[in-house]
Amino acid sequence: MRRKIVAGNWKMNGSADLVADLVPTVRKAVAGLDNGVEVVIVPPALYVPQVRAEADPVVAVGVQNLSGYEAGAYTGEISAAMAVDSGCRYALIGHSERRRLFAESDQIAAEKVMRALESGLSAILCVGETLEERDQGRAEQVVEGQVCAGLSGVGPDQWDRVVVAYEPVWAIGTGKTATTDDAQAMHASIRRWLGEMGAPAQDVPLLYGGSVKADNAAALFAEPDVDGGLIGGASLMADEFLSICRAMPVNAGN
Ligand code: PGA
Repeated sequence: MRRKIVAGNWKMNGSADLVADLVPTVRKAVAGLDNGVEVVIVPPALYVPQVRAEADPVVAVGVQNLSGYEAGAYTGEISAAMAVDSGCRYALIGHSERRRLFAESDQIAAEKVMRALESGLSAILCVGETLEERDQGRAEQVVEGQVCAGLSGVGPDQWDRVVVAYEPVWAIGTGKTATTDDAQAMHASIRRWLGEMGAPAQDVPLLYGGSVKADNAAALFAEPDVDGGLIGGASLMADEFLSICRAMPVNAGN
């Protein structure tokens, strides 16, 4: 059975008060779930210790970004080792906001994936096409390039800590979601490309992201190659986020 994961990406939102309100509620409810879903909260890095104190060990914690460098004179950066030291198990890499607003290339994403994996973190590589690329019929080509480049350095014994999140850029924060058919089709392609790279493709969790909400999560998670979700806006509301976690079917996956 592939792992089933719902990860909440808070982006640059939240506060100490939100952590104190939301995380204990989420932890209590997740402790009672019986659908096997692994729930991850990915807050701004400054809140990682506070989230972890409230979430551990029921809900895992991740960082939204990390440095491609190991350590040293890189003002403002956070290393993979520091994320591990703070109790993180996951790192988002190559989110479209990082790619678009902070000029992160596939090469930088690949370096960060390797830093994460070498430090013992699981890397969630985010990929996805823009609306323009989809309209030009290039969605598959773009996503294949991102997957192959971003994961090019992964060694045979590291694939068990790789997760891919397919997030069409046009669906992020817009209220537009890919149809379940489109999401499934891209996920099946991603699994095929992973296999061609020599990965144990059937075991790699593939998350869908982009305006996932309580009312569309169940349909997306019912698709055979959708193993969970990367949730932005809806992860900032405990009820909505928990409804998404509950939407994972008990017997999901292969
Ligand atoms: P959204 O964000 O759920 O608010 O669309 C998803 C993401 O960017 O990970």
